[in-house]
Amino acid sequence: MSGERTTTVLVGVTGGIAAYKSCELVRALMKRGYRVKVVMTDAATRFVTPLTFRTLTNEPVAASLWEDDPSAPVHHISLAEEADVFVIAPCTANVIAKIAQGRADDLLTTAALATEAPIVMAPAMNVHMWRDEATQENVDRLRDRGVVFVEPESGELACGDVGEGRLAPVEAIAEAVMAEAERAQDLAGRHILVTAGGTQEPIDPVRYIGNRSSGKTGFAIADEAARRGARVTLVTGPTHLADPFGVEVVRVQTALQMHAAVMERAEDVDAVVASAAVADFRPAEVARGKIKKTAAPEAIALVRNPDILAELGARQERPVLVGFAAETSDVESNARHKLEAKRCDLVVANDVSDPALGFGTDANRVAFVTRDGVEWLPMLSKRVIAREIADRLARLLGGADVE
Ligand code: PMT
Repeated sequence: MSGERTTTVLVGVTGGIAAYKSCELVRALMKRGYRVKVVMTDAATRFVTPLTFRTLTNEPVAASLWEDDPSAPVHHISLAEEADVFVIAPCTANVIAKIAQGRADDLLTTAALATEAPIVMAPAMNVHMWRDEATQENVDRLRDRGVVFVEPESGELACGDVGEGRLAPVEAIAEAVMAEAERAQDLAGRHILVTAGGTQEPIDPVRYIGNRSSGKTGFAIADEAARRGARVTLVTGPTHLADPFGVEVVRVQTALQMHAAVMERAEDVDAVVASAAVADFRPAEVARGKIKKTAAPEAIALVRNPDILAELGARQERPVLVGFAAETSDVESNARHKLEAKRCDLVVANDVSDPALGFGTDANRVAFVTRDGVEWLPMLSKRVIAREIADRLARLLGGADVE
């Protein structure tokens, strides 16, 4: 655990027979040194009383939206803000469905919607409810949004059925919480610069050469790094995306502007994640007025743009460098070439020959290419890919072996 403040884990208890195991979870978390607070659904209070958790945690137990002390801060919001990790165990199919839909009709689901903390869910339910398509779709949706699932185990269930649906072992849930608590601050004290989006290279005042990058990948990385305690500067080409919370955003249009914005800050950063699709070329001349259809040039002369990443890599004192490689063929070997040529610590390679992946999509399939080898990930949401990148970034920064 890092930081001076004690890490607070909010334990959400929902109404299932496994609710009694939440008492063990609370104890396991307290043994690990966490401050634990409990929020219960009304149904959960039928299985275990709030008094039990109050006695175990020595903290008030939250069970209703309507029992607030009027002088206290808004309860669901303060719970959500206090939490460094929010673990819901056991989590019923109903609560999974409500959170997947963004419904917030009790204290627990309201806190889940309001929190910025990582969420861990440990489902427990009847095997058929777990396997039902609706539940699995909800689980996938939440996974894509970054929720960590501790999968239920197989065995005899309280209802007499046999199959998966039993709450995972308490120790496994506590371990997952611990991993999230460590992640939550593993980039604290670091300054990370992320480039995102595509640049636009003007031909005349209304036309430009551009690409299909939406900025989603870079924005997700910036958001994730900020959540994990980093100071983040995001230098982005034109995009419709809103500024991620707590991130300094520098909006640029051209490769030359992106180059200037990055170089201005390069001395001051610990790492650069270059996810932007920077135009390699720009028109040699930009027409002052809109080029008339009748006066269209036969060809547009292009000149090379500076390679921002390569320039950073060539520095004697360089930050940790994570480059991207958007390839349509020979993905691994091209990415390996970029790793060496631009002196990166890690290259995130993606095969953009499939229009369903990479540019503009919500999911992608990437490989991590380092000097130690290549690791392909399955198709994942860009939010989850951002988490994977931040994990590796934290390791690279922690083990700083930068020349
Ligand atoms: O924005 P999204 O819609 O989410 O799409 C994400 C993405 C497909 C744009 C992203 O995953 C990606 O692959 N980004 C890099 C695209 C690219 O331009 O790759 P490249 O092979 O041309 O460049 C290699 C690396 O050098 C990249 O890190 C790039 O940012 C950097 N570069 C390239 C040219 C240049 N002039 N300066 C650079 O810094």
